[in-house]
Amino acid sequence: MTENHTALNGRRILLGVSGGIAAYKAAELVRLLRGAGAELRVVMTPAASEFITPLTLQALSGQAVRQSLFDAAHEAAMGHIELARWAELILIAPASADLMARLAAGMADDLLSTLCLASAAPLWLAPAMNQQMWQAAATQANVAVLRERGVQLLGPASGEQACGEQGPGRMWEPAQLLAACVTHFADGPLRGVAVTITAGPTREAIDPVRFISNHSSGKMGFALAEAAAGMGARVRLIAGPVSLSTPTGVARIDVESAEQMLQASLADPGEIFIACAAVADYRAVQVADNKLKKQQPALELKLLRNPDILATMAGQRPRPFCVGFAAETERLAEHAQGKLKAKGLDMIAANWVGERAAGGGFDSEHNALQVFWPGGDRQLALTTKTQLARELMTLVATHYNERKT
Ligand code: C5P
Repeated sequence: MTENHTALNGRRILLGVSGGIAAYKAAELVRLLRGAGAELRVVMTPAASEFITPLTLQALSGQAVRQSLFDAAHEAAMGHIELARWAELILIAPASADLMARLAAGMADDLLSTLCLASAAPLWLAPAMNQQMWQAAATQANVAVLRERGVQLLGPASGEQACGEQGPGRMWEPAQLLAACVTHFADGPLRGVAVTITAGPTREAIDPVRFISNHSSGKMGFALAEAAAGMGARVRLIAGPVSLSTPTGVARIDVESAEQMLQASLADPGEIFIACAAVADYRAVQVADNKLKKQQPALELKLLRNPDILATMAGQRPRPFCVGFAAETERLAEHAQGKLKAKGLDMIAANWVGERAAGGGFDSEHNALQVFWPGGDRQLALTTKTQLARELMTLVATHYNERKT
């Protein structure tokens, strides 16, 4: 983490860690939150320290980790009531079934549950447990009680579990939890809005070692993700193979092929869907099981059109606010407006590629855009992709908010 995220700078977050195998992920979460500028205090339940040592979280948070209600030295430094008042947000990750039961019952039998009762700060839980435990009637009843009281649940996600079972109960990834915190504190025109962005190229396999792809760097999509998160959006970034680091507060999903990018997009199109990826138009009809041998003087490769991800998203109901990109070598306005209409978009950002690119384009740090929407357009002058992304996201936010009202 190199850069502080303004939204979390100096924000006081109390991170609770309860006992479960996902407690090891708290180390990464502490690193991310701190890297994003948050002020952190970590409180562990006794069971949590069976899974991860307090020393680890102390070293990463830069603060003494608290575990007991009855620690005289800690109480003298900052009493538990003071700590409860200090917190602007209490995030418990992982939240075990046992902890949730104790919170639902209003117990205060250890430091963490006492702090939850004594604090007026929003309480967020990231549950993590075996899928059977999550689905148990007792847990679900506790969840209902907690939700009714305004406790926010982040997750759990579904998938493979540490115990080898499949199902709901996986803790949200630290990056997702960070994204939720950034969104909570960010103040901007996209506050709380779910934005899904595709970025980078796709790779279409020909055989186990070869693929069809393109030179897209993913820079523009990543810059858009960063700009959207900075405006308070909850950003999912679906990235093809690129060598870029994930912007702070953004949940990233790595994919390779157009089909995988489509499935990841369909899983959560968001309220705003921005297709910035340079999706390969075609894929091999058949992917060879083994490496193709160079025996013939010529090789014929049969290709099949890939699905149009953006057009598919624009056809969803409810339909997200859809933004596309168009790289053109001629008749830019005409082609861009054609795509706007044909794909049923709310906005399209077009740029020159090839001879007319004038310093911008695929692998460059710079670009210029001409943005079209039904009934209007705007020129965004040549500048860095970071700046251009902010300008474009501002335009998107304005139009999205107008449409919503
Ligand atoms: O039709 P064309 O490829 O020029 O459209 C470009 C726009 O459509 C971009 O926003 C791109 O991300 C999106 N696209 C897509 N799926 C495809 C092809 C393009 O989402 N298969």
